Amino acid sequence: MKISIDTDASSLIIDGAAHDLHSREAFAVIADLWVKTGWVRKYSYGFSWLGRPIIQLPDDMLRIQEAIWQVQPDLIIETGIAHGGSLIFYASLMEMIGKGRVIGLDIDIRAHNRAAIEAHAMVKRITMIEGSSVAADVVAQVKALIRPGDVVMLILDSNHSRDHVAAELAAYADLVTPGSYILSQDGVMQMVAGSPRAPAEWADDNPITAVRAFLAARPDFELAKPPRPFDETLDTPDCSHHPVGWLRRKPA
Ligand SMILES: C[S@@+](CC[C@H](N)C(=O)[O-])C[C@H]1O[C@@H](n2cnc3c(N)ncnc32)[C@H](O)[C@@H]1O
Repeated sequence: MKISIDTDASSLIIDGAAHDLHSREAFAVIADLWVKTGWVRKYSYGFSWLGRPIIQLPDDMLRIQEAIWQVQPDLIIETGIAHGGSLIFYASLMEMIGKGRVIGLDIDIRAHNRAAIEAHAMVKRITMIEGSSVAADVVAQVKALIRPGDVVMLILDSNHSRDHVAAELAAYADLVTPGSYILSQDGVMQMVAGSPRAPAEWADDNPITAVRAFLAARPDFELAKPPRPFDETLDTPDCSHHPVGWLRRKPA
Protein backbone atom coordinates (compact mmCIF):
# COMPACT_ATOMS: atom_id res chain seq x y z
CA MET A 1 0.00 0.00 0.00
CA LYS A 2 1.28 3.48 -0.86
CA ILE A 3 0.27 6.22 1.55
CA SER A 4 1.19 9.87 1.41
CA ILE A 5 0.11 12.69 3.66
CA ASP A 6 -0.26 16.31 2.67
CA THR A 7 -0.84 18.37 5.80
CA ASP A 8 -1.16 21.62 3.79
CA ALA A 9 -3.98 20.13 1.72
CA SER A 10 -5.28 18.19 4.73
CA SER A 11 -5.36 14.97 2.78
CA LEU A 12 -4.14 11.41 3.05
CA ILE A 13 -3.69 9.61 -0.24
CA ILE A 14 -4.04 5.83 -0.26
CA ASP A 15 -3.00 4.17 -3.52
CA GLY A 16 -3.83 7.39 -5.42
CA ALA A 17 -7.22 8.00 -3.77
CA ALA A 18 -7.39 11.14 -1.61
CA HIS A 19 -9.17 11.19 1.73
CA ASP A 20 -9.70 14.04 4.13
CA LEU A 21 -6.84 13.77 6.63
CA HIS A 22 -9.34 14.11 9.48
CA SER A 23 -11.81 11.51 8.22
CA ARG A 24 -12.50 8.25 10.00
CA GLU A 25 -10.88 6.34 7.14
CA ALA A 26 -7.68 8.37 7.38
CA PHE A 27 -7.56 7.98 11.16
CA ALA A 28 -8.05 4.21 10.85
CA VAL A 29 -5.12 3.95 8.43
CA ILE A 30 -2.88 6.11 10.63
CA ALA A 31 -3.87 4.18 13.78
CA ASP A 32 -3.18 0.86 12.08
CA LEU A 33 0.25 2.09 10.98
CA TRP A 34 0.97 3.51 14.43
CA VAL A 35 0.24 0.12 16.03
CA LYS A 36 2.37 -1.75 13.48
CA THR A 37 5.30 0.66 13.64
CA GLY A 38 5.02 0.81 17.42
CA TRP A 39 5.33 -2.97 17.54
CA VAL A 40 8.67 -2.81 15.77
CA ARG A 41 9.80 0.13 17.94
CA LYS A 42 8.69 -1.75 21.12
CA TYR A 43 6.45 1.12 22.14
CA SER A 44 4.60 -1.12 24.62
CA TYR A 45 7.84 -1.78 26.49
CA GLY A 46 7.97 1.75 27.90
CA PHE A 47 5.47 1.69 30.76
CA SER A 48 5.14 0.54 34.34
CA TRP A 49 2.36 0.21 36.89
CA LEU A 50 2.99 1.02 40.58
CA GLY A 51 6.68 0.43 40.09
CA ARG A 52 6.67 -2.73 37.95
CA PRO A 53 7.25 -2.87 34.19
CA ILE A 54 4.09 -3.77 32.29
CA ILE A 55 4.25 -4.86 28.65
CA GLN A 56 0.94 -3.46 27.39
CA LEU A 57 -0.33 -0.59 25.32
CA PRO A 58 -1.91 1.96 27.69
CA ASP A 59 -5.05 1.88 25.52
CA ASP A 60 -5.34 -1.86 26.15
CA MET A 61 -4.78 -1.35 29.87
CA LEU A 62 -7.69 1.07 30.03
CA ARG A 63 -9.94 -1.36 28.15
CA ILE A 64 -8.98 -4.15 30.58
CA GLN A 65 -9.77 -1.80 33.48
CA GLU A 66 -13.20 -1.16 31.95
CA ALA A 67 -13.81 -4.91 31.68
CA ILE A 68 -12.73 -5.52 35.28
CA TRP A 69 -14.99 -2.72 36.52
CA GLN A 70 -17.90 -4.10 34.50
CA VAL A 71 -17.47 -7.76 35.52
CA GLN A 72 -16.18 -7.19 39.09
CA PRO A 73 -14.43 -10.57 39.03
CA ASP A 74 -13.51 -12.46 42.17
CA LEU A 75 -10.63 -14.08 40.32
CA ILE A 76 -8.47 -13.21 37.34
CA ILE A 77 -6.24 -15.94 35.95
CA GLU A 78 -3.36 -14.52 33.93
CA THR A 79 -0.90 -16.61 31.98
CA GLY A 80 2.45 -14.83 31.47
CA ILE A 81 3.80 -12.78 34.40
CA ALA A 82 7.15 -11.44 33.08
CA HIS A 83 8.04 -8.47 35.37
CA GLY A 84 4.69 -8.59 37.15
CA GLY A 85 3.32 -5.20 36.12
CA SER A 86 0.10 -6.65 34.75
CA LEU A 87 -0.45 -8.79 37.87
CA ILE A 88 0.05 -5.69 40.04
CA PHE A 89 -2.25 -3.70 37.74
CA TYR A 90 -5.13 -6.16 38.07
CA ALA A 91 -4.52 -6.64 41.81
CA SER A 92 -4.51 -2.88 42.43
CA LEU A 93 -7.81 -2.47 40.58
CA MET A 94 -9.26 -5.23 42.74
CA GLU A 95 -7.89 -3.51 45.81
CA MET A 96 -9.79 -0.34 44.84
CA ILE A 97 -12.93 -2.32 44.07
CA GLY A 98 -12.55 -4.01 47.43
CA LYS A 99 -12.47 -7.66 46.42
CA GLY A 100 -10.72 -10.14 44.19
CA ARG A 101 -7.60 -12.20 43.66
CA VAL A 102 -5.21 -12.74 40.77
CA ILE A 103 -3.42 -15.97 39.90
CA GLY A 104 -0.36 -15.49 37.70
CA LEU A 105 1.29 -18.34 35.82
CA ASP A 106 4.71 -18.28 34.21
CA ILE A 107 7.05 -20.96 32.97
CA ASP A 108 10.00 -18.94 34.29
CA ILE A 109 9.48 -16.53 37.17
CA ARG A 110 12.86 -14.82 37.39
CA ALA A 111 14.15 -14.49 40.96
CA HIS A 112 14.37 -10.67 40.83
CA ASN A 113 10.82 -10.40 39.44
CA ARG A 114 9.45 -12.76 42.07
CA ALA A 115 11.24 -10.84 44.83
CA ALA A 116 9.87 -7.51 43.60
CA ILE A 117 6.31 -8.84 43.33
CA GLU A 118 6.55 -10.48 46.76
CA ALA A 119 7.76 -7.18 48.25
CA HIS A 120 4.87 -5.23 46.68
CA ALA A 121 1.86 -4.10 48.72
CA MET A 122 -0.47 -5.74 46.18
CA VAL A 123 0.99 -9.23 46.73
CA LYS A 124 -1.81 -9.81 49.22
CA ARG A 125 -4.14 -10.31 46.25
CA ILE A 126 -1.68 -12.34 44.13
CA THR A 127 -0.79 -16.02 43.87
CA MET A 128 2.04 -17.01 41.53
CA ILE A 129 2.51 -20.48 40.11
CA GLU A 130 5.64 -21.44 38.19
CA GLY A 131 5.33 -23.91 35.31
CA SER A 132 3.90 -24.12 31.85
CA SER A 133 0.36 -22.79 31.79
CA VAL A 134 -0.77 -25.94 30.02
CA ALA A 135 0.98 -28.46 32.29
CA ALA A 136 -1.56 -30.72 33.98
CA ASP A 137 -0.25 -30.01 37.50
CA VAL A 138 -0.41 -26.24 36.92
CA VAL A 139 -3.97 -26.43 35.61
CA ALA A 140 -4.89 -28.56 38.65
CA GLN A 141 -3.34 -26.03 41.05
CA VAL A 142 -5.36 -23.23 39.44
CA LYS A 143 -8.60 -25.20 39.67
CA ALA A 144 -7.93 -25.93 43.34
CA LEU A 145 -7.68 -22.19 44.06
CA ILE A 146 -11.13 -21.37 42.67
CA ARG A 147 -13.80 -20.93 45.33
CA PRO A 148 -17.45 -21.85 44.80
CA GLY A 149 -19.31 -18.90 43.28
CA ASP A 150 -16.16 -17.08 42.11
CA VAL A 151 -16.68 -14.89 39.06
CA VAL A 152 -13.66 -15.73 36.92
CA MET A 153 -11.95 -13.80 34.11
CA LEU A 154 -9.07 -15.20 32.01
CA ILE A 155 -6.21 -13.28 30.40
CA LEU A 156 -3.82 -15.14 28.10
CA ASP A 157 -0.43 -13.45 27.76
CA SER A 158 2.17 -16.23 27.73
CA ASN A 159 3.35 -18.08 24.63
CA HIS A 160 1.22 -16.68 21.80
CA SER A 161 1.72 -19.47 19.26
CA ARG A 162 -1.48 -20.86 17.76
CA ASP A 163 -1.03 -24.27 19.40
CA HIS A 164 -0.20 -22.92 22.84
CA VAL A 165 -3.14 -20.51 22.89
CA ALA A 166 -5.39 -23.34 21.69
CA ALA A 167 -4.13 -25.50 24.56
CA GLU A 168 -4.66 -22.68 27.08
CA LEU A 169 -8.21 -22.15 25.83
CA ALA A 170 -8.87 -25.88 26.13
CA ALA A 171 -7.47 -25.95 29.67
CA TYR A 172 -9.08 -22.82 31.14
CA ALA A 173 -12.11 -21.65 29.14
CA ASP A 174 -14.52 -23.79 31.17
CA LEU A 175 -13.43 -21.91 34.31
CA VAL A 176 -14.71 -18.59 32.92
CA THR A 177 -18.05 -17.48 34.34
CA PRO A 178 -20.96 -16.84 31.96
CA GLY A 179 -21.08 -13.09 31.28
CA SER A 180 -17.32 -12.78 31.94
CA TYR A 181 -14.47 -12.61 29.45
CA ILE A 182 -11.38 -14.22 28.08
CA LEU A 183 -8.79 -11.80 26.71
CA SER A 184 -6.47 -13.56 24.30
CA GLN A 185 -3.65 -11.06 23.92
CA ASP A 186 -1.35 -10.15 21.04
CA GLY A 187 -3.43 -10.92 17.98
CA VAL A 188 -1.33 -8.05 16.66
CA MET A 189 1.13 -10.77 15.62
CA GLN A 190 -1.07 -11.42 12.59
CA MET A 191 -1.01 -7.72 11.64
CA VAL A 192 2.76 -7.37 11.83
CA ALA A 193 3.87 -10.74 10.40
CA GLY A 194 6.81 -10.34 8.07
CA SER A 195 8.03 -7.02 9.50
CA PRO A 196 11.08 -6.63 11.74
CA ARG A 197 10.61 -8.45 15.09
CA ALA A 198 7.84 -10.51 13.49
CA PRO A 199 8.51 -13.72 11.52
CA ALA A 200 6.41 -14.31 8.40
CA GLU A 201 5.02 -17.52 10.01
CA TRP A 202 3.05 -15.34 12.41
CA ALA A 203 0.57 -14.74 9.59
CA ASP A 204 -0.93 -18.09 10.59
CA ASP A 205 0.83 -19.00 13.82
CA ASN A 206 -0.87 -16.50 16.08
CA PRO A 207 -3.56 -16.24 18.78
CA ILE A 208 -6.29 -15.16 16.34
CA THR A 209 -6.09 -18.48 14.49
CA ALA A 210 -6.50 -20.30 17.82
CA VAL A 211 -9.40 -18.07 18.86
CA ARG A 212 -11.27 -18.62 15.60
CA ALA A 213 -10.90 -22.40 15.84
CA PHE A 214 -12.02 -22.27 19.47
CA LEU A 215 -15.11 -20.21 18.62
CA ALA A 216 -16.07 -22.60 15.83
CA ALA A 217 -16.28 -25.39 18.42
CA ARG A 218 -17.69 -23.40 21.34
CA PRO A 219 -21.04 -21.72 20.67
CA ASP A 220 -21.18 -20.72 24.35
CA PHE A 221 -18.50 -18.08 23.61
CA GLU A 222 -18.69 -15.11 21.25
CA LEU A 223 -16.35 -12.40 20.05
CA ALA A 224 -17.44 -9.39 22.07
CA LYS A 225 -15.42 -6.46 23.35
CA PRO A 226 -16.58 -5.11 26.69
CA PRO A 227 -18.80 -2.14 25.81
CA ARG A 228 -17.18 1.28 26.24
CA PRO A 229 -18.80 2.90 29.30
CA PHE A 230 -17.92 6.30 27.83
CA ASP A 231 -17.60 6.97 24.13
CA GLU A 232 -17.99 10.44 22.72
CA THR A 233 -15.34 9.76 20.09
CA LEU A 234 -16.15 10.33 16.45
CA ASP A 235 -16.31 6.57 15.88
CA THR A 236 -12.61 5.98 16.45
CA PRO A 237 -11.13 2.50 16.09
CA ASP A 238 -9.16 0.87 18.91
CA CYS A 239 -5.39 1.20 18.96
CA SER A 240 -4.79 -2.28 20.34
CA HIS A 241 -2.43 -5.23 20.38
CA HIS A 242 -5.39 -7.53 20.94
CA PRO A 243 -7.56 -7.64 17.81
CA VAL A 244 -9.97 -10.59 17.87
CA GLY A 245 -8.95 -11.00 21.50
CA TRP A 246 -12.04 -10.39 23.61
CA LEU A 247 -14.29 -13.43 24.00
CA ARG A 248 -17.37 -13.30 26.18
CA ARG A 249 -18.91 -16.41 27.63
CA LYS A 250 -22.56 -15.97 26.83
CA PRO A 251 -24.75 -15.49 29.86
CA ALA A 252 -26.42 -18.77 30.86
C1 LIG B 1 4.59 -11.09 27.13
S1 LIG B 1 5.28 -11.69 28.60
C2 LIG B 1 4.01 -11.34 29.78
C3 LIG B 1 3.83 -9.87 30.00
C4 LIG B 1 2.96 -9.50 31.17
N1 LIG B 1 1.67 -10.17 31.17
C5 LIG B 1 2.72 -8.00 31.14
O1 LIG B 1 1.66 -7.57 30.68
O2 LIG B 1 3.60 -7.27 31.57
C6 LIG B 1 5.18 -13.42 28.33
C7 LIG B 1 5.55 -14.32 29.52
O3 LIG B 1 5.04 -15.62 29.24
C8 LIG B 1 5.93 -16.56 29.79
N2 LIG B 1 5.71 -17.85 29.12
C9 LIG B 1 6.19 -18.30 27.93
N3 LIG B 1 5.78 -19.54 27.69
C10 LIG B 1 5.00 -19.91 28.73
C11 LIG B 1 4.27 -21.08 29.07
N4 LIG B 1 4.29 -22.16 28.29
N5 LIG B 1 3.56 -21.08 30.22
C12 LIG B 1 3.55 -20.01 31.04
N6 LIG B 1 4.23 -18.88 30.78
C13 LIG B 1 4.94 -18.83 29.65
C14 LIG B 1 7.32 -15.98 29.59
O4 LIG B 1 8.21 -16.52 30.53
C15 LIG B 1 7.04 -14.47 29.77
O5 LIG B 1 7.35 -14.08 31.10
